[in-house]
Amino acid sequence: MAKVVRVLCIGDVFGEPGRRALAAFLPRLRAELEVDLVVANVENAAAGFGVTPRLARGFLEGGVDVMTSGNHIWDRKEIIEYIVKENLLLRPANYPAGTPGVGSVVVKAGAYQVGVLNLQGRVFMPTIDCPFTRGDEEVARLRTATPIIVVDMHAEATSEKQAMGWYLDGRVSAVVGTHSHVQTADERLLPGGTAFITDLGLSGPIDSVIGVEKDLAIQRFLTGMPNRFEPAKGRVRLQGAVIRIDPESGRATGIERIQRDLAE
Ligand SMILES: [Fe+2]
Repeated sequence: MAKVVRVLCIGDVFGEPGRRALAAFLPRLRAELEVDLVVANVENAAAGFGVTPRLARGFLEGGVDVMTSGNHIWDRKEIIEYIVKENLLLRPANYPAGTPGVGSVVVKAGAYQVGVLNLQGRVFMPTIDCPFTRGDEEVARLRTATPIIVVDMHAEATSEKQAMGWYLDGRVSAVVGTHSHVQTADERLLPGGTAFITDLGLSGPIDSVIGVEKDLAIQRFLTGMPNRFEPAKGRVRLQGAVIRIDPESGRATGIERIQRDLAE
């Protein structure tokens, strides 16, 4: 039987509803899809803003192997002390030199080593170092350890995420987008062997505005005034994608979107 490594990548886990969806589906998805490694973006896990050490520990205990993040990583100040000690929680690698934490990690998945890299876009986002040049450096370094590399490109613009997919095609196993909280239907294998999807989607409340209580979001659009965003209540869903990778070459052989709705 051909060897394959399966990596399940989970879209932004949003607040308690997202955590509930993850807890409900992750154990059975791991078994059903024969997953070797689970990567989840957790930057919105704490009520939509940041992640706390307690929640991060809970994800690791609950079956997540590597946690990625993005622009909300520093929203909870207590995460700084945690992230300097726990390299399974990544912050984008293209944050300026000296930023606490790391942007990539190599972990074991069964008999193989897998590199996970977190990058962040700059279009309609805070200005940080270039994700493309920083990505070059990180990928070159990771490839000395393993050809199996999964990249979470946390970005607002679909164009920037697609550009990163093409830029890294043939050098990494997968580029998956996060941050928009809306799953895109463009999953594909690029010609060089990199699996790509513009956005994994949201793990969180279905009847919401990208996770937020819809009336609060509407009020902000109507008035332009700041108000306190809260995660929406009600039905929850998990979204992501599973990627199949040939462990010898690091080339992806398949990518499939995942969506699971929790019955109330
Ligand atoms: Fe984000």
